[in-house]
Amino acid sequence: MIQSQALTDALAGTIFRTVISVEETDSTNSFALASAASGEDEGLVVLADRQTAGRGRHGRSWFSPPGTNIHMSLLLRPYLNARDASLLTIMTAVGACAALREAAHCDAGIQWPNDIVLNGKKLGGILIEAKTENRLVIIAVIGIGINVNVLITELPDEIKASATSLRAEIGTVFEREKITLALLKNIDSLHRTLFSRHAGSLERSVRRSARDMLIHRWKELDMTLGKSIAVKTSRGVLRGKAMDVDGYGMLHVMTADGRIVKIHAGDISIED
Ligand code: BTN
Repeated sequence: MIQSQALTDALAGTIFRTVISVEETDSTNSFALASAASGEDEGLVVLADRQTAGRGRHGRSWFSPPGTNIHMSLLLRPYLNARDASLLTIMTAVGACAALREAAHCDAGIQWPNDIVLNGKKLGGILIEAKTENRLVIIAVIGIGINVNVLITELPDEIKASATSLRAEIGTVFEREKITLALLKNIDSLHRTLFSRHAGSLERSVRRSARDMLIHRWKELDMTLGKSIAVKTSRGVLRGKAMDVDGYGMLHVMTADGRIVKIHAGDISIED
């Protein structure tokens, strides 16, 4: 199990002031949401060695076996205008890639909207669950799952071909503590650069230059831009070329007739 005290000590001075590490929970996102409901302040980190009901996007389950991977949720009280909420996903994905590149020396990249990929396979995912009140995001739980040491043979059949782990790609066993610390430090650093607060107000605003820098970094890490893709959205499947991701996290897709369609949410598959 990942030890919480060493992590808490190493995170002194960051937004992440408390780390709770448990052997087992249903979902670290549920744990963090319940903590928020009972008044926990922002900066809580919840880690679980295994999840019995880990969840992914679109109601899918997230494979969370004991002792091998990172299952982590971060509780923030962003007080951020809801139109900027996608910056939380962008910040987390860019921070996660930077951390994996730094701590595991690999070429981790992003697949829009929130997958972490390595060598064309899914290495991790991000699930943000938020509560908005009067146009402000008042609670955001950022769930991050990274396959660290799981072997391909241990993965469920339905994801064997599409998912991977650091160990499977690089061939060594990784210390989860080291990767977890790198994830938290990188996310904290981006959070600090991106958001500011005026005295006397809870609401955070976004520094424009930091937003531009973040989007620039996303584009460098995005493995789908420039490729032919199919995006499954709630309105059906759209095919085209992934052209751009804007400051609001929308994917711009050019269809065969030259139109640019902006997509807010969907599942991508690469067609070339
Ligand atoms: C996805 O790619 O669909 C998102 C996966 C997110 C999984 C993480 S694991 C920690 C946190 N707790 C959960 O129940 N889900 C997220």
